[in-house]
Amino acid sequence: MKVLAAAGLLLLASAAAQSDSAWAVDFDQTQTRRILRHGPWPPAEATDRTNRFSGNADAIRLGAMLFGEPRLSGNAAISCQTCHRPERGWSEAKSRSEGLRRQDRNAPGLLNVRLQRWFGWDGANDSLWADGIRPIVNATEMGGSAAKTAKLLSEDAPLACLARRVEPGYAAMDDEAALVLAAKALAAFQETLSSPRTAFDDFRDALAANDGAGMARYPASAQRGLALFTGRGQCGTCHTGANFSNGEFHDTGLVFFLNDPDRKPGTPRRVDPGRHGGIAHLKANPFNLLGRYNDDPGGMASIPVRHVAQQHRNWGEFKVPSLRSLPATAPYMHDGSKPGLRDVILHYSDLDEDRLHSDGEAILKPLHLTEAEIADLQAFLESLSASDDTATRYDSLRREAASCR
Ligand code: HEC
Ligand code: HEC
Repeated sequence: MKVLAAAGLLLLASAAAQSDSAWAVDFDQTQTRRILRHGPWPPAEATDRTNRFSGNADAIRLGAMLFGEPRLSGNAAISCQTCHRPERGWSEAKSRSEGLRRQDRNAPGLLNVRLQRWFGWDGANDSLWADGIRPIVNATEMGGSAAKTAKLLSEDAPLACLARRVEPGYAAMDDEAALVLAAKALAAFQETLSSPRTAFDDFRDALAANDGAGMARYPASAQRGLALFTGRGQCGTCHTGANFSNGEFHDTGLVFFLNDPDRKPGTPRRVDPGRHGGIAHLKANPFNLLGRYNDDPGGMASIPVRHVAQQHRNWGEFKVPSLRSLPATAPYMHDGSKPGLRDVILHYSDLDEDRLHSDGEAILKPLHLTEAEIADLQAFLESLSASDDTATRYDSLRREAASCR
């Protein structure tokens, strides 16, 4: 039984008829308004005014080259690509990254990273370019340095050729300025990592155009998952807009203590402070947008860092991730503790309210989903992805870069 009216979507909301193609959803006005807010896709291109190389073709090539460059690291063996694998949505299969030492967090995917306002799970950086400096110089990640980066940019022929094109006077720069140049080129490259249109985007546009035939092409299970997402699940209160993130920080009730197999008996268990620590790092960071390397000093982008202040509730808060292109980026959450999308959904279904509501997030309630609802939500989340060509583009950018003379 497949009942899809051409003029709109007919509702057959009998729970008994819940096999996949059996019933689609008749979205009411409120839900339609909510759904339309998750688009259009792709969003308008915008250059990052804090980075004067944003959008510069040679900087993009230089950044692609540096992204796969292990000589940026202390042991010449770790590059950005070690943890951000192109074929895995620019993330990796490990729950927690390993650089020179094991990290406390999961490497996020980098598709659509340009749309974010804060960077890192704790938002310890307020620009994409500053966020590339941390892994290079952090002793537990890549263990590189400004001096090493400057030397590499002047001694490696293709890198030097590109750096000269991007910034003709770069050879006279001090080491720190050369590190920032490298980070800004890395950012120019990462800005090009965008995910394509998806089945959801086609549905959303068909809904906007009241195109019943277009809407009917979106699987019924994904439609029911979307109804849950924008309705009872209240997922869309945090996962807002076209990129499914409000860009802010929340506590979703994950286990507080770090899973720490290396902990010595008798030592205290560690807790990731999340946003609370992120704000402290941000404020103290010389590369934040109040610092001398912001190419748009006094611009709008520097307002958030000026005004953000630590609050008690920031303990254990983490950034709301985008929900686009998720299937490639498992495992999930800041600590990589959820192996699959089903596990994330079960987390929201079985939330531990006692753990959660001591200090806020009253909107999160255990959803007690049925098996059919879990499958529908998963079908909806999967409909937010489509295969992209960023890995192939990365290879061709690197080939172009290598021939710079
Ligand atoms: C050892 C593994 C590792 C390496 C190497 C690494 N990263 Fe990451 N990356 C991570 C982890 C883990 C996080 C999350 C960090 C956090 O929340 O504090 C992250 C976060 C990021 C983010 C923030 C994304 C977001 O959604 O907020 C960006 C951007 C990024 N990395 C870019 C880079 C670049 C550029 C390089 C190379 C210069 C690099 N990474 C090297 C593991 C790594
Ligand atoms: C109160 C705000 C809030 C609500 C409501 C919410 N989320 Fe989240 N979501 C987050 C935050 C914050 C994270 C990251 C948590 C962490 O890693 O500590 C997250 C993580 C996720 C992830 C993992 C993504 C990744 O890349 O690791 C998925 C999937 C997800 N949420 C789906 C949903 C669904 C489905 C719902 C509704 C049932 C929902 N969320 C409701 C804030 C929210």
